[in-house]
Amino acid sequence: MRELQNETVHLVVTSPPYPMVAIWDQFFSEASAYTYDQMHEYLFQVWKEVARVLVPGGIACINIGDATRSKDGVFHLYPNHSRVIERFEGLGLVSLPYILWKKPTTKPQYKGKGAFLGSGFLPPNAYVTLDMEFILIFRKGELRSFPPKDPDRYKSKFTKKERDEWFSQVWNVTGARQNIEGLERRIAAFPEEIPRRLIRMFSINGDLILDPFLGSGTSLKVAIDQGRRFVGYESLESLVSIIKTRLGNELRQVEFATQKV
Ligand SMILES: C[S@@+](CC[C@H](N)C(=O)[O-])C[C@H]1O[C@@H](n2cnc3c(N)ncnc32)[C@H](O)[C@@H]1O
Repeated sequence: MRELQNETVHLVVTSPPYPMVAIWDQFFSEASAYTYDQMHEYLFQVWKEVARVLVPGGIACINIGDATRSKDGVFHLYPNHSRVIERFEGLGLVSLPYILWKKPTTKPQYKGKGAFLGSGFLPPNAYVTLDMEFILIFRKGELRSFPPKDPDRYKSKFTKKERDEWFSQVWNVTGARQNIEGLERRIAAFPEEIPRRLIRMFSINGDLILDPFLGSGTSLKVAIDQGRRFVGYESLESLVSIIKTRLGNELRQVEFATQKV
């Protein structure tokens, strides 16, 4: 993110590839990150940049899930969320209460496999299903300050109903977009409601939002809809056409750049 100056981004909303989740295995191995530690080290390179570019009082929202996997016949839980919290705290950011996003239930697990099978009603060998993802929230330093009666801040106000629903710890947000398919499904796009809430909760009109793991561009689309400025990065070139289709008329406002790091 060399082109981004220090302390210029007001809010980061992102969902990285998740360590130890099967759909991301190939991705991490291409980045020579084969172990759990190496995968988090890869992500840490991005978290360092996030900490650098955030304004004082700026917020980072990271959507990540934990993972389970059996290795050499032994079952392991990989608590990705706790690794990310440790890394952000190590960078000096303040960890705020996080959100648990309750996803539509997948199959319960028996001995780490996809289903309970016949003995699924007999204790004690079943595992609790990982049907929550985390939305971790970090702040860079003290609270952000604003001039009195800042018009952009007042224009960005949320309603009481929105506040009561959004500032509660468990979110029941279902329904990725109806037309989600192919590549978008494989990169695990989040529903627009997730970045929409986070952008309304933690930024004001005209703020600069960053997504370092753009995927199909969900956060970009929502940021533009909400009158925010946006910058994002995506390493898979094949996603550019998906992002462009998705933006429709708003495409005019977006500049694409290709560069080698
Ligand atoms: C979980 S997906 C993001 C999905 C996105 N929230 C959406 O709604 O479509 C993570 C994305 O990060 C991209 N990515 C991984 N490492 C990257 C890097 N170093 N720079 C830019 N993009 C990266 C992957 O190609 C993938 O598309």
